[in-house]
Amino acid sequence: MRTVIWEQNQVWVIDQRKLPLTLEYKKCEDYRQVALAIKDMLVRGAPAIGATAAYGMALAAARFCNLERPGFLQKMEEVSKEFAATRPTAVNLFWALREIGQVIEYNRDKQPGEISKAILQTAEKIVGDDIDTNRAIGRHGNGLIPPTANILTHCNTGSLATVEFGTALGVIRTAHGQGKKVHVFVDETRPRLQGARLTAWELVQENIPATLIPDNAAGMLMKDGRVDLVLVGADRIALNGDTANKIGTYNVAVLAHENNVPFYVVAPTTTIDFDMESGRDITIEERTGEEVTHIDGVQIAPQGISVYNPAFDVTPARYITAIITEKGVIQGPFGDKLRSLGGKDMREVKP
Ligand code: MRU
Repeated sequence: MRTVIWEQNQVWVIDQRKLPLTLEYKKCEDYRQVALAIKDMLVRGAPAIGATAAYGMALAAARFCNLERPGFLQKMEEVSKEFAATRPTAVNLFWALREIGQVIEYNRDKQPGEISKAILQTAEKIVGDDIDTNRAIGRHGNGLIPPTANILTHCNTGSLATVEFGTALGVIRTAHGQGKKVHVFVDETRPRLQGARLTAWELVQENIPATLIPDNAAGMLMKDGRVDLVLVGADRIALNGDTANKIGTYNVAVLAHENNVPFYVVAPTTTIDFDMESGRDITIEERTGEEVTHIDGVQIAPQGISVYNPAFDVTPARYITAIITEKGVIQGPFGDKLRSLGGKDMREVKP
């Protein structure tokens, strides 16, 4: 299942807010609709956000390529800033915008039409690479999964959170596909319920055995010896291994540590922030209190209560057993291991 599709100067995204009841693609004909789809969480999950923003930039380029070169370049800078302002934590967004920005810079002496073609090619490459990367992550991660395993996961890391296949859920898919007897405990993931709405839905679609649990049941399951390992995704990994992921991930990591359960972070190297030394500097998105006081529009808390609703937390590297990437499994302690994974340079993409 593809989360984001480019078709004749239109971008189609799955409206994930409607799942699991309805699978519906929304058409975006203008880059602003794409930006809104990210901001309003029709599209969510770090790699999916990056890929969608890349297509959004391509949509903007197609719209503005009739302008003179200076006007076009100015517009593209403004559009990039609009995308950067949609969500602050997942670094894949900023990575994708930087890749596109470098391609614009490399081709800046060409005609806007040519630059626009290079932007679309780059977006297509970001999308295609994400799929290949996830399959590689699945293969590497599968090596850590025993023939029979109870796996606990938090939030959504499946096809819906990426372009296709998924990261942590991609590892589970791979292990299941290889005939391993995997069973997944799915944290419901309050308040947006990505576990209940999205992960559970993906697992049911593929007949992978799974049990949905309230977030606060994870500790008891681990204490009772019913969880063999934890697999979670990431929104931003600092160079020391500190990892921002969906709120509640830190709780799971501490519980795993207390109960000697291996805790794996599964993410592409595009989720590593090579400019950030430690998780202390990661910006944590705060979302509206209504996500906590209401469920599907129904008020469940008294009017007037104040709410704190951080969307992510940072798990210190010391709680992370290993980070599973497309380049291999990086065992903790991480030292300088993440820095040496480096980045990719896509400036060579030409029209
Ligand atoms: O707020 P969201 O739904 O965008 O947050 C998503 C997560 O935290 C995911 O676990 C993370 O992006 C990993 S995606 C493979």
